[in-house]
Amino acid sequence: MTDRYAVVGHPIAHSKSPLIHGLFAKATGQDMRYDAIDCGPDEAGFRAAVRDFREAGGLGLNVTLPFKLAALRLADAASEDARLAGAANTLSFTQEGIRARNTDGSGLVRDLTANLGVVLDGRRVLVLGAGGAARGIVLPLARAGAAALVVANRTATRAVALVHELAPAGLPLQAVALDDLAGAGAFDVVINATSASLSGATPAVPQAAFAAGALACDLVYGQGLTPFLALARDAGVQQLADGTGMLVEQAAEAFAWWRGVRPETAAVRQRLTVPLLAG
Ligand code: ATR
Repeated sequence: MTDRYAVVGHPIAHSKSPLIHGLFAKATGQDMRYDAIDCGPDEAGFRAAVRDFREAGGLGLNVTLPFKLAALRLADAASEDARLAGAANTLSFTQEGIRARNTDGSGLVRDLTANLGVVLDGRRVLVLGAGGAARGIVLPLARAGAAALVVANRTATRAVALVHELAPAGLPLQAVALDDLAGAGAFDVVINATSASLSGATPAVPQAAFAAGALACDLVYGQGLTPFLALARDAGVQQLADGTGMLVEQAAEAFAWWRGVRPETAAVRQRLTVPLLAG
């Protein structure tokens, strides 16, 4: 029987995961099928969809908004990346139960380091936002060797709470209010993990926050030059990236965990890439 996987969430029609995993399966010769399941807006529907899929013989699920927290709650065992993020994006069904991981952070780190050629070791990294998207990436970035990792948020108390919660001894995490960024120095990597781009807005990042040779990355994908990336470009930043690479790399991490085979990502990233700069 063909092994079955799927992505579950609401809404789900926009998800690129079936395309990505389908391409990975083809390229690696894996006999598997990958579907999209719309479970409706409620957690009860999500839990029922997971149960039904598992009972029908499904082997694993990707979980997307807004159920990443619920996915962690229903797991029998969770990896450290999921526990620290407080959310899971990948489930694996085994005889022992439901295992959970969060591959978002490691996917971003892999995109930055392996694809975009960024050296994180010793660098100053700025994460904008303190919601769910920021939560999944802060510790993996700090652990990749950043000399300083600053979380800046419009609502300062959320940044402080996130850093406080994620601060195991020794990691150089700090929180600032977005309005106080001007006094926080310059950063080599600036990541927009706010949801501002989705509403056509951008966090007000001062030009001085971008160090010479900085890279700016917006975690949204397929939207071309977002307001944040335009702000970074206008501040003189030459390396601009969106979330396409992270999307493909988090999928590759999940695929490798499920199948024991790590797919090449270059062709898939290229296929999904929307040019950032028109013309
Ligand atoms: P997600 O799961 O996508 O992170 P979220 O938990 O609702 O969604 O968090 C959204 C994040 O984007 C928050 O950090 C939010 O800032 P506040 O905590 O101050 O609300 C940030 N955000 C959204 N719109 C923004 C804007 N226009 N400018 C700055 N930050 C914005």
